[in-house]
Amino acid sequence: MDKLNTIFVKSDVECIPGEKREEILKNPGFGISFTDHMALVKYDRQNGWHDGQIVGHQDLNVSPAMMVFHYGQAIFEGMKAYRTPENDLVLFRPEKNAQRFNRSAIRMAMPEIDEELFIQACDKLVLTDRNWVPQIEGQSLYLRPFMIASEAHIGLRAANKYLFLIIASPVAPFFQSISDVPAISIFATDKYVRAVDGGTGMAKCAGNYAASLIAKDEAQENDCQDVLWRDAKERKYIEEMGTSNICFISRDTSGNVELTTPVLDGSLLDGITRDSILTLAKSRGYIVKEEKLIFDEIIEKISSGQITEAFSCGTAVTISPIGSIVTSATKTIVSDGKAGEITMSLRQELIDIQFGRTEDKFGWRHNIK
Ligand SMILES: Cc1ncc(COP(=O)(O)O)c(C=O)c1O
Repeated sequence: MDKLNTIFVKSDVECIPGEKREEILKNPGFGISFTDHMALVKYDRQNGWHDGQIVGHQDLNVSPAMMVFHYGQAIFEGMKAYRTPENDLVLFRPEKNAQRFNRSAIRMAMPEIDEELFIQACDKLVLTDRNWVPQIEGQSLYLRPFMIASEAHIGLRAANKYLFLIIASPVAPFFQSISDVPAISIFATDKYVRAVDGGTGMAKCAGNYAASLIAKDEAQENDCQDVLWRDAKERKYIEEMGTSNICFISRDTSGNVELTTPVLDGSLLDGITRDSILTLAKSRGYIVKEEKLIFDEIIEKISSGQITEAFSCGTAVTISPIGSIVTSATKTIVSDGKAGEITMSLRQELIDIQFGRTEDKFGWRHNIK
């Protein structure tokens, strides 16, 4: 496989002028502005992955017969580069993203990509666009690695040619400060489902998100900010949310903190934030349970006060407290409907690790060099 040393920077890239970049970085929003460069690696059956480059962020000149437009072979990842107080640039557990990317690729009959190449492409892009990694507290550089079927062909089969790209976008924290993190309302739809047994639920493929948009609209019509997905067969078990996993906090009869989350059974995404939170919770001595969670039982435990906190977790939001769970017939408020104490302390602990403010006791930070 042609890999690491083929990644180079093209000299004729027109960069956004420094002043304009500084202006954007004052208030980057989320996913609105893009850095000067992108990573691009090509694949075909004969040559494997080859011709890796860092080029200017630019429009793609593609055929309308490109197979991704017709048969939807498209997968992606979402990760962030952080600037530490020492001015180092770090990624958070990028090998996990690379591994999940390959699991998605296998499910979608797409070629896997060397883990090292994936991470090196991230590193090279961030280093090239290092001025785009925000200095302002809480901001980061969002990376969007993705792969698409690029062969021009009509006729259903897996494509023979693919493109792997990474684009980058500076992003503000979802919430501006620790004190203004609002608790969200989530809508448990019974009209739509996200994933079925044997389907693509565990893959981060574009089609999963296309199919979820109508449910997001439904949630918004019900004054909720996100969707709570349940299993496709019975709408009985809690699965996950739009772009995050879900956790509940309770105490056992001896007063020990319990953190409960749906078990990864193939139909939900194996979140890297979820995995990190479970590790943090265990290291605090919490009881961690990964189980099939029955929706009605969880609602009952929230109503009786046994479950005191709920939150969603994912790369974009880190942790977002959940204040209420809504269905077409009911609304259940979690405790006082505000962000819980344990939720917020887990959030702070994770953010401090990501931004290099505390010791990296689990070896999660990847220094970009
Ligand atoms: C459907 C879904 N579940 C969960 C997650 C959380 O995953 P992670 O923590 O790796 O961002 C995401 C975000 O990628 C997602 O899209």
